[in-house]
Amino acid sequence: SDIIAVVPAAGVGKRMKSSIPKQYLKIGDKTILEHTVLRLLDHPSISHVVIAISDGDEYFSQTCLKHHDRVRIVSGGKERADSVLSGLKSLQNTDWVMVHDAARPCVALDDIDALIAEATTHADGAILACPVRDTMKRGSATGEINETVCREQLWHALTPQMFNCGQLLKALEDALNKGLPVTDEASAIELSGSSPKLVTGSASNIKVTQPEDLALATFYLSTACPQASK
Ligand code: CTP
Ligand code: MG
Repeated sequence: SDIIAVVPAAGVGKRMKSSIPKQYLKIGDKTILEHTVLRLLDHPSISHVVIAISDGDEYFSQTCLKHHDRVRIVSGGKERADSVLSGLKSLQNTDWVMVHDAARPCVALDDIDALIAEATTHADGAILACPVRDTMKRGSATGEINETVCREQLWHALTPQMFNCGQLLKALEDALNKGLPVTDEASAIELSGSSPKLVTGSASNIKVTQPEDLALATFYLSTACPQASK
């Protein structure tokens, strides 16, 4: 089938504290963005990848993705949701869209398989997620524990997240017009009154966020990647 992946890659990577945006840091011979996009393109159901890059980007043109025939670029925006919206608006005649962070190079193809299977059989789409492992506390601004939050129903929301393209476009536009906070695609769909499904994915699908994540991503990328079953 033909699924388009939208990859927001227009962030500055403030928490990474590196001199260049984190998606352009190298792991082995490739940038994180290249690892991420080439992994998505390895999936037989993904036909194209649309990457949102920032207007002043000086790095993308140095990647192997520049002349790739299954890659297109669009201008990113101020927030992640603006970058995703810019990608969605560029799509025509697309039924299914998958949104995946540039900073998640370790996503496994069999997790993508599971996501596609669930999203295409559920009206409101689906997201990869993994159950919270640690005991969760709610703290006060000054650092005292207020309560222990029941972990049973808590999940880490990962990407990719997959939805009907038109449904996601409308939900994102509505949420942004209302000034509501949208930190992932599912939250926009939720605000529209729908309930996407949680698909258990691997905890190794980390978002490279802080300096110590680089060693972890390097390790996960060095281990065998399970192949997609279809
Ligand atoms: N992103 C984007 N446009 C923005 C902000 C973020 O496309 N205006 C992308 C990032 O490039 C990243 C993904 O959204 O691939 C997830 O965001 P995050 O991990 O928060 O990246 P940054 O915003 O770059 O990092 P930080 O929040 O530490 O500055
Ligand atoms: Mg950010």
